[in-house]
Amino acid sequence: MRTLRDIDQLRSTLRDYRQRGQRIALVPTMGNLHAGHLALVACARQHADIVVASLFVNPMQFGPGEDLDGYPRTFDADQAQLIEAGCDVLFAPAVSSLYPNGLDAQTRVHVPVVGEGLCGGSRPGHFDGVSTVVSMLFNLVQPDVACFGEKDYQQLAVIRKLVCDLHMPIEIIGVPIVRAEDGLALSSRNGYLSSEERAIAPALYRTLCTLRDALARGEPIEKVLRQGHAALYDAGFTLDYLELRDTTLGPINLATRHAVLLAAAKLGPARLIDNLTVQLPASAARE
Ligand code: PAF
Repeated sequence: MRTLRDIDQLRSTLRDYRQRGQRIALVPTMGNLHAGHLALVACARQHADIVVASLFVNPMQFGPGEDLDGYPRTFDADQAQLIEAGCDVLFAPAVSSLYPNGLDAQTRVHVPVVGEGLCGGSRPGHFDGVSTVVSMLFNLVQPDVACFGEKDYQQLAVIRKLVCDLHMPIEIIGVPIVRAEDGLALSSRNGYLSSEERAIAPALYRTLCTLRDALARGEPIEKVLRQGHAALYDAGFTLDYLELRDTTLGPINLATRHAVLLAAAKLGPARLIDNLTVQLPASAARE
């Protein structure tokens, strides 16, 4: 695997692959890799000849008071895992390479509507930061395909819209959530949990499963969501949101059958997010 920090080197390396007609896949990451990231690499491998992973803790997507400084940086271990996973190129630029003029003077990409509410509501500016850096990476790597985890469901929706609206010829692939044995969705932020909090954390997934089953049985949506709020509160979470949307993140209506239940909740220092798709019966009360 070649580890590149320099934009010009990245461009010339990828130009060679492209000239040989090789298909390129990109896996953008912020490092501190776990099995969820490795599933993205494995998926990328299936769709391309060359797999490029990027590792960049993007300051633009962190709000004031968020965990930019404390975000786990484990470069050597990440690099070793990517070699083991068969990645071809690791692009790990410095902040000063991607944002040479600082963040204030930086052009930003804003994806309306789908980036509003949910995580976009509780983390103002977050998706502008994600959209900007992902656009930059797409522009630098010019991948044929890019893989993103479905755990960040809204992020995936934002990126799909970005690629569509800006006519980028990139196939976006969503990769299913990888969970620990007890159901907790893998996340770099799980490392912030104390052992007591880690024992509580799978209650987020368990609650979503219970709610999904109740919704699939046709129980009234408002009642089910109220029960979810109470269950998460009782388990010790501070709920950020718990919402049922259609799979494009639009509001559900009487015709919606395929929906997604999305939650974000704080547990100690960690903000956990998770989601589950739900099949609604024709009879579900949309109150
Ligand atoms: O999902 C992430 O790790 C980040 O939001 C991404 C897509 C790498 C952009 O910084």
